Amino acid sequence: MLTARREERLSQLAAELTDSARYPAKISVTVIATDLNQPAGPELLLTELERRGLAPTVLINNAGFGYFGKFLDQPAEEIEAMIQVNIRAATLLAHRLGHAMARRKRGAILNVASFAALAPIPRYAVYSGAKAYLVAWSQALAHELKKSHVRVSVLCPGFTRTEFHDVARHEKSSLMQRTELTPEYVARIGLRGLERGQTVIVPGMWYRLNALLIRLLPARAAVAMSARSVR
Ligand SMILES: NC(=O)c1ccc[n+]([C@@H]2O[C@H](COP(=O)([O-])OP(=O)(O)OC[C@H]3O[C@@H](n4cnc5c(N)ncnc54)[C@H](OP(=O)(O)O)[C@@H]3O)[C@@H](O)[C@H]2O)c1
Repeated sequence: MLTARREERLSQLAAELTDSARYPAKISVTVIATDLNQPAGPELLLTELERRGLAPTVLINNAGFGYFGKFLDQPAEEIEAMIQVNIRAATLLAHRLGHAMARRKRGAILNVASFAALAPIPRYAVYSGAKAYLVAWSQALAHELKKSHVRVSVLCPGFTRTEFHDVARHEKSSLMQRTELTPEYVARIGLRGLERGQTVIVPGMWYRLNALLIRLLPARAAVAMSARSVR
């Protein structure tokens, strides 16, 4: 099952995935368009899944966005939306679907956070905080659900070549362009980490080395380094 707001994009992707010339394995894809920024969005999606008799055993909480700019200059609606989509929707979906997975003693949840969760980025303050929530929540949840045989992983990619920065209204710095990952690579490493039972997954050697460096640096120095990386 695929969900997002733009139904035509989802239908296009569904057609690619079900094209047997491209992928010989038989795949069936259901498309349900949802706006997870609406307070009722997660509930509407869950109700629609139930109505169609679908009980996912794998949940990938990938929907998310950031808004670049100084916190005090950001519109309150954008701040609320970042919390709603990145935190609230992901949490409510995992809560309901996690129940069903735990009952069946089988399932997996992959939460897509960000490297910004490990190294908070000034001018992405709310976004960094929201993604840090996902890391802390996922780590605790992974422990809680272990006995139910439900795996929980959190993916922390660095800069990745997607529509993210257009949506964030952020012109990429030269460092961002030089260290950018491809979405295919990030997805592959994320799924491999989930399969291997890795809780926190950081794709790419450059980012793993930086994660190590950040742990060794005083927090203030790490934040200053992040601020420089997006300029
Ligand atoms: N690109 C990066 O540098 C980067 C780095 C670290 C982490 N991430 C994280 O990776 C995840 C995927 O982002 P991306 O890089 O692929 O950016 P993207 O190209 O902008 O994709 C964002 C996805 O989220 C969906 N989405 C956004 N708002 C939504 C809403 N209100 N309701 C339902 N779906 C919504 C979008 O579909 P619709 O617009 O059709 O709704 C789209 O499928 C996000 O959680 C992001 O925070 C990205």
